[in-house]
Amino acid sequence: MAKLTVNDLNVRGKRVLVRVDYNVPMEEKGGQMVINDDTRIRETLPTLELLIKQGAKIILAAHLGRPKGQREPSLSLRPVAAKLADLLGRPVAFVDDCIGEKVEKTVGVLQPGDVLLLENVRYYQEEEANDPAFAEKLARVADVYVNDAFGAAHRAHASTEGVAQIIARRGGKCAAGLLMERELKFLGGELENPARPFVVILGGAKVSDKINVIGRLLEKADTILIGGAMAYTFKLARGLKVGRSLVELDKVEMAKAALEKARAKGVQFLIPTDNTVATPVKTDKLNKKGKPIIELQNPRLNSQPNIPDTEEGVDIGTATIQTYGQVIAGAKTILWNGPMGIFEDPRFAQGTFAVAKAVVEATQKNSAKSIIGGGDSVKALNQAGLSHQVTFTSTGGGASLEFLEGRVLPGVAVLNDK
Ligand code: 3PG
Repeated sequence: MAKLTVNDLNVRGKRVLVRVDYNVPMEEKGGQMVINDDTRIRETLPTLELLIKQGAKIILAAHLGRPKGQREPSLSLRPVAAKLADLLGRPVAFVDDCIGEKVEKTVGVLQPGDVLLLENVRYYQEEEANDPAFAEKLARVADVYVNDAFGAAHRAHASTEGVAQIIARRGGKCAAGLLMERELKFLGGELENPARPFVVILGGAKVSDKINVIGRLLEKADTILIGGAMAYTFKLARGLKVGRSLVELDKVEMAKAALEKARAKGVQFLIPTDNTVATPVKTDKLNKKGKPIIELQNPRLNSQPNIPDTEEGVDIGTATIQTYGQVIAGAKTILWNGPMGIFEDPRFAQGTFAVAKAVVEATQKNSAKSIIGGGDSVKALNQAGLSHQVTFTSTGGGASLEFLEGRVLPGVAVLNDK
């Protein structure tokens, strides 16, 4: 059933606790933490602007990284408050705690339309434990709860689940934010009855991360295109050689079962017929864990499905790029999750960027609905200079995968139905 959204609320003068996903990539520069990608902050602006217009007193709660209950200074949300103030064009107050007297005092003087960001909720280990007493303390400053943190909705934590239970019990409304609503629409509703052909492109390192998504999408898709390291486990399942490529030997049977299901359902299931390969060479340099760094040398095209014993597959090859491109060009609905190769290294980015380009072209020339399932594929799209040229890009990583698997997300389940 559809969830209540911020559009359905009357929030004038009310204290609205908004859970956002401001878990953004940061980097230390000149002794300061700097935000590398502010997409997740920008994406919450429509919800915040609506709440400001409606005269809510806005209290934002979020996590950053995994400090495991420690006050790790590099994981403070303070830089995010400054960034948000820039983007909103109005002041954003910040308190260096998320519960307690200081927070209650600051909330007490908020005026309608004011925005306050609380410190990282994961500075308390009670957050991830979904501790009821901690959730109660969060709930103390709120009349209404809004969840706009799709990226964290797969976590049953105090700020994503527990606090909503408490506010609902008190008779307060719990609604989805506009970003959450869009995520549920595109990753959920739109894929229920997709315009056909429905082409699913899956990449990334592990079959184990995606096998449940594959299982579910085999019920809906016309074609599934596989890339990334997980393709090598599928190659093994088809009896092909993979040389020194990354594989999950214990997932080969699972991959075989997926191939069999695809055959039985009449779903076209393609794996790379050629690859860019490189020779892994051990160097004298050590990584952070004290292990020798492996360099990938002598990249070249291996134009046949079997990969030689000394080589590692690092990207899809030119023939595969062409085949996948043709399939994508004819699609009416596209779901893409996961890169085709090690795209962070420009030598192995060709396949991923070609897929990104093909998806954008199908969107523009074939009016395909293109949905990008979050994480690395979004990064790749941005790196290829093609962001904002697809129908929808998810802000969720793990959350979008769990949702695509058909799992109930605790942060969504807890919200009021319409
Ligand atoms: C994410 O970045 O995927 C979300 O913010 C969730 O973070 P987590 O995996 O640390 O719970």
